[in-house]
Amino acid sequence: MADQSSRAGERYASAQILDYAARTHHPEDRALGRAFDAPARHGMPEIQLGQAEGRLLELLLRLTQARKVVEVGTLAGYSALWIARALPSDGHLWTIEANPKHAGVAAEVIGEAGLGDRVTILRADAAEILPTLRDSGPFCAVFLDADKGRYDVYGRWATENLRSGGLLIGDNAYLFGRLLEDSDEARAMRRFHEEMAINFDSVCVPTPDGLAVGLKVAPVA
Ligand SMILES: C[S@@+](CC[C@H](N)C(=O)[O-])C[C@H]1O[C@@H](n2cnc3c(N)ncnc32)[C@H](O)[C@@H]1O
Repeated sequence: MADQSSRAGERYASAQILDYAARTHHPEDRALGRAFDAPARHGMPEIQLGQAEGRLLELLLRLTQARKVVEVGTLAGYSALWIARALPSDGHLWTIEANPKHAGVAAEVIGEAGLGDRVTILRADAAEILPTLRDSGPFCAVFLDADKGRYDVYGRWATENLRSGGLLIGDNAYLFGRLLEDSDEARAMRRFHEEMAINFDSVCVPTPDGLAVGLKVAPVA
């Protein structure tokens, strides 16, 4: 159930409740813990997914039996690890990271977790490299977690390169609270939402900064 307060945006989760729920439902093992802590250890921005969001990503990929996944925005490989774990042994993740230091740390983290053969880290700007990935598709899922002002471009690429029934997931879909502002970045993010709503069965899950999730619908015959 929801009530008027929660419909108006109030959240009932305290840090303690979040911690209890995470420990109960998906206690992190060593590899995930190391991946989560890697940005802090290496003096990188600590902007990786939350633990529950990582787990949700994993479950959504398992539910759709995803085999081939593209991620835009690797950072230190925390979300990549959740994704790689959701894949069958012949599955593959292509994860794109423009910052060489971030890509290097991610390679270490993913190697340490023993998943190096299931993940290709593409050290490049996403807008440049995505068109070259077309031949490896169609993909089962695309996860966006990089420069927010180009989500519309990445979303269009996903629409063209996902299989029917494939998943498009975009983090920070509320744009840190700036979604409705009059800026290029906010307009791009609104285009992402609006085009997703046309081409996908979709929802924006009210995580702290919004997680847009869409299932690509088959074209009408
Ligand atoms: C929010 S972090 C990704 C967090 C990661 N998905 C996780 O949860 O562990 C965003 C990353 O995207 C990278 N990035 C930003 N713009 C990019 C672009 N145009 N192409 C590739 N990577 C980009 C940044 O360097 C940064 O490492």
